[in-house]
Amino acid sequence: MTLQLGDIAPNFEARTTEGLIRFHEWLGDSWGILFSHPRDFTPVCTTELSAVATLKPEFAKRNVKVIGLSVDPLHRHRRWADDIRDFGGTALNFPIIGDDHQTVAQLYGMIHPAHDELYTVRTVFVIGPDKKIKLTLTYPQTTGRNFDEILRVIESLQLTHTHSVSTPANWQKGEAVIILPSISDEAAKDKFKAGWVEIKPYLRLTPDPTAQTARAS
Ligand code: BEZ
Repeated sequence: MTLQLGDIAPNFEARTTEGLIRFHEWLGDSWGILFSHPRDFTPVCTTELSAVATLKPEFAKRNVKVIGLSVDPLHRHRRWADDIRDFGGTALNFPIIGDDHQTVAQLYGMIHPAHDELYTVRTVFVIGPDKKIKLTLTYPQTTGRNFDEILRVIESLQLTHTHSVSTPANWQKGEAVIILPSISDEAAKDKFKAGWVEIKPYLRLTPDPTAQTARAS
C-alpha cells in the first residue's frame, strides 16, 4: 500500500554506515528526512549525497535528522563515501542504510518496478516529530533532486506547525506568509501582532513570524 501524508512512518531496524538503528528511536523528537538513491558509484547519486552532506548543518539547525538508503551493501557505501567527499568537499556526515535485502525499500515503496525492477527510485519522506509523514517526493533516477527546495519545505512545515500559517507559491524564508483560513479575524488579532493585509477574505498575508524584518507586502 502506498504511504500517504498523515500516515505514521513505518518503524524498522536497519544496518547503516553509523551502526544499527531502530528508526523511531533514532528519530527521537526530531524531524526526519529519509531518502533513497538508486545506486552507489553513479554520477547523479554522487552529486546528491554530496549536496546533502554540505547542507547537513542547515538541516541540523532546524532539528532535522537525515538518513539515506540504497540497496547497495554497507561495504559499498563505505567505499563510495570517499567519492562523495571528493566531489563536494564535505565528508559523508549522515547515515546511509545498507538495504541489500530491500526490506526498507519495500516497506516504503521505494522500488517502482515499471521504472526499474531492482533499484530504488529517488524518494524523499519528510517525517514530523509525531512520526507522521509530512511530505513525499518521487523523482526518476536520471533527475537529481533540489535539496534547497526540501529545506524550504521544512521551513514551511515548521512554520505551519508552530504558527498556524501556510506559505504561498514560491515562498522563501522571510517573505510574507498566509494566516490559515481556519483562524478567525478575532483570533488572528491576538496571534498576529504585526497585523495582516487582506487580499481576499480568505487570503490574509502577515509577516513571517520568525523573521524580524519581514513586511506583509
Ligand atoms: C545516476 O546516479 O547517475 C543514475 C543512477 C541510476 C540510474 C540512472 C542514473
